[in-house]
Amino acid sequence: LPGVPGQRFGFFVVELNGTTIGMITLDRRDPERKGHIRPEGGERELGYMFLPQAWGRGYATEACAAALDWFADVHPGEPVVLSTQTANEASMRVAAKLGFTEVERFEDYGAEQ
Ligand SMILES: CC(C)(COP(=O)(O)OP(=O)(O)OC[C@H]1O[C@@H](n2cnc3c(N)ncnc32)[C@H](O)[C@@H]1OP(=O)(O)O)[C@@H](O)C(=O)NCCC(=O)NCCS
Repeated sequence: LPGVPGQRFGFFVVELNGTTIGMITLDRRDPERKGHIRPEGGERELGYMFLPQAWGRGYATEACAAALDWFADVHPGEPVVLSTQTANEASMRVAAKLGFTEVERFEDYGAEQ
């Protein structure tokens, strides 16, 4: 990243030995998009993105679990959704390891989510 990212609710930068290796977001899912567990939408949505050199060592799962723990303290009982391409096997695996359960599949961005 060219600079320090701005601060907003539920936005985490993940560091390893002082270097940024990933980002986690807990933004509200756009009610206009598919993929909701509440009729009105607007659920908190977990997003994660790590640098390729950091993949495959459990960092995404570890960091997301910590972010979800934090969120459960701040907003007890509030649901969290995530949406990912089903073809993204690493992301599907992270979701499963975090304990997410599949609610539905739908097409978005030209691919199954
Ligand atoms: C998805 C992503 C965050 C995973 O990060 P990570 O730190 O490698 O994740 P973890 O190491 O915690 O777990 C990855 C799991 O997927 C598995 N995996 C990785 N590639 C895989 C593949 N091609 N097929 C099947 N499983 C795969 C790993 O073995 C691991 O599972 P395990 O612990 O049971 O062995 C990372 O690949 C990434 O940033 N991708 C690009 C951004 C992205 O796709 N974000 C999600 C968008 S919704």
